[in-house]
Amino acid sequence: MNDRDNRRSFLKTTTLAAAGTTLAGGLNIARAAHAEGKETLKAALIGCGSRGAGAAVNVLRANPAVRLTAIADAFDDAFEPRLKAMWTYRKDLVDRIDVPDERRFVGLDAYKKAIDSGVDLVLLCTPPGFRPAQFEAAVEAGKHVFMEKPLATDAPGVRRVMAANEKAKAKKLAVAVGHHLRHEAAHREVIKRIHDGAIGDLTLLRVYFNSIGVWVRPRTPDQTEMQYQVRNWYYFTWLGGDHIVEQHVHDLDVGNWIAGGHPVEAQGMGGRQVRVGKEVGEIFDHHAVEFTYPDGLKMFSQCRHMPGCWNSFSQHAHGTKGRADIQAQKQATLYVDGEKPVTWQRGADGHQVEMNELTAAILNGRPYNEADWAAESTMTAILGRMATYSGKIVAWDEAINSHLDLSPKGKELTWELEPPVKPGPDGCYACAIPGATKAF
Ligand SMILES: NC(=O)c1ccc[n+]([C@@H]2O[C@H](COP(=O)([O-])OP(=O)(O)OC[C@H]3O[C@@H](n4cnc5c(N)ncnc54)[C@H](O)[C@@H]3O)[C@@H](O)[C@H]2O)c1
Repeated sequence: MNDRDNRRSFLKTTTLAAAGTTLAGGLNIARAAHAEGKETLKAALIGCGSRGAGAAVNVLRANPAVRLTAIADAFDDAFEPRLKAMWTYRKDLVDRIDVPDERRFVGLDAYKKAIDSGVDLVLLCTPPGFRPAQFEAAVEAGKHVFMEKPLATDAPGVRRVMAANEKAKAKKLAVAVGHHLRHEAAHREVIKRIHDGAIGDLTLLRVYFNSIGVWVRPRTPDQTEMQYQVRNWYYFTWLGGDHIVEQHVHDLDVGNWIAGGHPVEAQGMGGRQVRVGKEVGEIFDHHAVEFTYPDGLKMFSQCRHMPGCWNSFSQHAHGTKGRADIQAQKQATLYVDGEKPVTWQRGADGHQVEMNELTAAILNGRPYNEADWAAESTMTAILGRMATYSGKIVAWDEAINSHLDLSPKGKELTWELEPPVKPGPDGCYACAIPGATKAF
């Protein structure tokens, strides 16, 4: 058996295991609630932003046993709009939302209070720079976890998540990660066939997250620098990881899923050309990376935040007997040489399916853990950023062992603490300079 055959046979097993989970999800709900002797599964939402609100709806819809009993956010103005929207538009869920004032926690340490509020499951939907500490705290307290991708913004953070995940497994806690594409029918169908050999041996992967970019939250006069940066987390690498980590991690994860593991090295280039100015922090607006897997397979990756350009959220696999094109959140098509192409539609939204599968596993007492491969995908994206920021070839081993810790120095995170990056005299933040910046 060669490397690729090994990879295929390993993946066949894991894909079938995942498919088994799907079939079980959604069934046996009433029985399951009784199986553990519990009528309810109490959840806390930590990070009440746009994804947090979506995750709360998804977890409530996933299973009638679920109650939302606590919410936490760094800022006290986060609750009102989210709760109002739920009350107005999600009338079917209102009966299972029980968050009185005493279970609405505010501040940088609010997550600890939500974790300790008597819940079974926590939803970590805060910026990824906070994920390692919040995941560690949830595991320490013995809670099941749903956490959004990416899992960290630097290598020390990834290592913390991996270590905490070992404890989660030992404690038999369920851990889900918001890689919704892993839970969508189009991805599952086409990738299963790739692993079964439908397009022969893989020769090339290509992945794209090219879009117009995201929000800007203007500075207000009353803010400390820390408050400004946490509000605008997307534009600060220590908080968001840069968009290659925050967003493109979805595509890189699909690449790893198809390839059956993580790359061994990367080299690339990037910069900021269109998105410049004091409102947009320190991150790049484009990255292009060539990743190399252990058997020499290459994955070409692009992510761009520029209006008026070609946009694509897609993943593509080329093989010796055909190719697969996946338009994420739309459809996947398999082209096998000499055969009629076959297309699969997206199917149910993966954001919902991932919660169906997680809650079914918890209520049935089944093991469920997505954090090992998700940590590898986060690290793959960080490896890509290390390559574009440094302009060098970066090996996986030096990347994952890097001691470059982007988090603020200080015992407790407070609004008065100095963030790790500060604006210059012109109000702008310095960005990485390839060839000069120490990026790993
Ligand atoms: N899987 C997906 O499709 C998907 C889509 C969007 C976002 N996301 C991920 O979800 C996470 C949140 O993204 P978003 O778009 O909801 O951002 P957002 O800015 O809308 O929400 C983040 C919320 O977290 C709060 N917050 C910040 N720091 C906090 C802290 N230390 N403790 C408690 N609360 C804190 C903010 O005040 C805000 O309300 C990110 O990791 C992002 O990558 C995933």
